[in-house]
Amino acid sequence: MVGWVSKSIVAMTIRMPRWFVGWVSRRYVAGPRLEDAVGIMKRLSKEEACFTVDVLGEEISSMEEAQFFLDEYLKVIEAISEHNLDSNLSIKPTAFGLLIDEKKGMENIEKLVRTAHSHNLFVRLDMEDHRVTTSTIQVVIDLHKRGLTNVGTVLQGRLFRTLDDINELETELGPYADYRICKGIYLEPEDIAYTAYQDIVDATNACVDRMLAAGSYCSIASHDVPVIEYAKSALEAYGMGPNIPDPRSNAGPQRDAKGPGYEFQMLLGVRGPLRRKLAKAGHRTRVYIPYGEKWYEYSIRRLQENPTIGTQVAKAFLMPWTNRP
Ligand code: FDA
Repeated sequence: MVGWVSKSIVAMTIRMPRWFVGWVSRRYVAGPRLEDAVGIMKRLSKEEACFTVDVLGEEISSMEEAQFFLDEYLKVIEAISEHNLDSNLSIKPTAFGLLIDEKKGMENIEKLVRTAHSHNLFVRLDMEDHRVTTSTIQVVIDLHKRGLTNVGTVLQGRLFRTLDDINELETELGPYADYRICKGIYLEPEDIAYTAYQDIVDATNACVDRMLAAGSYCSIASHDVPVIEYAKSALEAYGMGPNIPDPRSNAGPQRDAKGPGYEFQMLLGVRGPLRRKLAKAGHRTRVYIPYGEKWYEYSIRRLQENPTIGTQVAKAFLMPWTNRP
C-alpha cells in the first residue's frame, strides 16, 4: 500500500512543472553553478564530510560537448584548490566522448586526470551501463600504466562479472587498486546481472569482502543498512576502523585525504542522519555533490530510480523545513 502511494507520488511529481521538480530536488542537487557546489561543500565540511564533485550530464552526441565537460571539470579543480576543499572528482567517461571516439575520449580523460594529479586530487570514473564496463576499466588500467595512480573506478555489485573484474584489476594494479563499490543504478538484463534485492545485496557484500582481501582501497557507496552493517563487520574482521592505520599486510599505500583503506560514500541529500552517525563514529564519509545545468534530467532519474522516494516528496511538501541537503 505504502509502496503504491509512493510510486503514485513519484509518477505525479515527474509530470509537474520544472520549478516544482526543482523545489523537490533541491536537497539532491547543489544547484546549476559551480559556486552552488562550493557553497554546499563549505557547509557540509562542518559535518566532518569530504566530497566528490559531479558535473551533471551523461552520454553526449558530439565531441564539442565533451570539451564542455573537460573545461568545466578543470574549473572544478581550480575551485577545490582555491577554497581548500577536501574533495575529489567523479566523472562519467561517456561525457568525455568514450562512446563516440574512444581515442579522443581517452585523451580528454587523461588530460583531466593529469591536471588533477598536479593538484594532488583523485578522479573517480563513475560506472555507467554495461556497454562501457570493459572500456571504463581499461581506461583506469591504461592511466595507471602511464603513471597516473590518482584514478579509480566504480564497480557494480549487481553485475555477474564484478568479482572477475576485481581479480583483473588486482592483477593489473596490485595495491594501487582503488574502488567505489555500489549496487549499480542501471537495471541490467538478467543474463548479466542479479535482479532480486537480496541477491544484489549479497553480491555487493561479496565484492566488499574481495576488495578488502585484495588490500585495495574500498569506498562503500550505499545508503542501505544491510550493506553498511555488513561492511562494518567485514572491516572489523580485518582489524580496520576509524583512526587505525590500515593493518592489512597487502594494503596499498595510504592515500592523501583518504581513510585508512576505506570510506563510506553517500549521495547529497540521502540519509544524512546515517552519514552523520558514521562520521561521528570516526569513519571517513564522502558526499557525492552533483551540480550543473542538467539538474532537471538528474532529478527525474533519481525519482524514477527510487520510487520509495515518494514518501520523501510528501514529507518535503508537508514539512518544507525538512527539505534540505
Ligand atoms: P537502496 O536503493 O536499497 O536504498 C536504501 C535506502 O536509501 C532507500 O530505502 C532510501 O531510503 C534511501 N535511498 C537510496 N537512494 C535514494 C535516493 N536516490 N533518494 C532518496 N533516498 C534514497 N551507481 C552506478 O551504477 N554507478 C555509479 O558510478 C554510482 N555511483 C554512486 C556513488 C555514490 C556516492 C552512491 C551513494 C551511489 C552510487 N551509485 C552508482 C548508485 C548505486 O548503485 C545505487 O543505485 C544507489 O545508491 C541505491 O542503492 P543503495 O545501496 O543506496 O540501496
